[in-house]
Amino acid sequence: SVLEMEVEQIKKGNYDHFMQKEIHEQPHSLTTTMRGRLRANDVVLGGLKDHLKTIRHSRRIIFIGCGTSYNAALAARPFMEELSGIPVTLELASDLLDRQGVMYREDTAVFVSQSGETADTLLALEYALEHGALCVGITNTVGSTLARKTHCGVHINAGCEIGVASTKAYTSQIVVMVMMALAIGADKISTQSKREAIINSLPDLPNKVSEVLKLDNEMKDLAESLIEVQSLLVFGRGYNYATALEGALKVKEVALTHSEGMLAGEMKHGPLALVDETLPIIVIATRDACFSKQQSVIQQLHARKGRLIVMCSNGDASSVCPSESCRVIEVPQVADCLQPVINIVPLQLLAYHLTVLRGYDVDQPRNLAKSVTTQ
Ligand code: AGP
Repeated sequence: SVLEMEVEQIKKGNYDHFMQKEIHEQPHSLTTTMRGRLRANDVVLGGLKDHLKTIRHSRRIIFIGCGTSYNAALAARPFMEELSGIPVTLELASDLLDRQGVMYREDTAVFVSQSGETADTLLALEYALEHGALCVGITNTVGSTLARKTHCGVHINAGCEIGVASTKAYTSQIVVMVMMALAIGADKISTQSKREAIINSLPDLPNKVSEVLKLDNEMKDLAESLIEVQSLLVFGRGYNYATALEGALKVKEVALTHSEGMLAGEMKHGPLALVDETLPIIVIATRDACFSKQQSVIQQLHARKGRLIVMCSNGDASSVCPSESCRVIEVPQVADCLQPVINIVPLQLLAYHLTVLRGYDVDQPRNLAKSVTTQ
């Protein structure tokens, strides 16, 4: 009805679509995610504090989710492993169920779900409960089935997310899992200075996100140059392997364009055969321990005349780009474990603009539902 349409417009504020609003809201949603949880050199997660000991003694931490929520866990894994010293594994909920994967009483199973109502994730939760694992929930939805059925958990407090394509929930999920790693790692001496440096840098993260959002017009420009493409690859590794998967997921789900995120370390084992002058490839090469490896990936793609789009840290454009024709996305540099929060933003904007330019439905892409409550 006309009334419903007007209410929708009011909820969107000055934006044309919910996805656009939710992308631009991220400095604010990240602020609410962290609110009340940061202390001088410490992180306090009320819903976890009585369980930290059990988690520290667990034999394994398993992250379980679907789609974007799985990707967020993938982004947080390296840091969780580093700070906890516990092996961290990842499961797509449906695959865990298909395999009836091994699970122990000594495991901590962390369920990640924006809606808290995803059928596959909830069935995996039932499965983990039956096996006696400690079940932790990370969700954006207070009172959801996930929040009620887990033993403990953390709300991401990103605010209601309406666009089918998850954007602000992704960045808030990562920050919650980073905070969780910081809380679990509080008793370890060897990582103390790194831990404190990250805790003290967290309050500035929303400002860095505001900075990267200024690339909006540049991403629209880039989208214009990609409007005709059939396919788009995204290469990442380390902390930003997740960025590659998540960026590609955004492009395929809203812009209805084939896109694959790939582990750059696997390039020579197959994907390199796809490279030619027409296929655009985004390479994520921001500064971290993987930087020099990504530089050589860029060189190899350039040698095969790849159509390159490089994401790098501010000031690195000239050293990273092998030619004039290479496009660059320069982003602010933050701590390595937080860099995925920054790096996904230009790709969210790119997917958004590509969708609008192609004339597709941004907030309700064909065939998809916001929360997948059937198996
Ligand atoms: C995200 O853009 C997708 N719409 C989808 O992959 C989603 O993340 C997935 O269905 C999981 O949803 P959840 O976080 O609500 O469990």
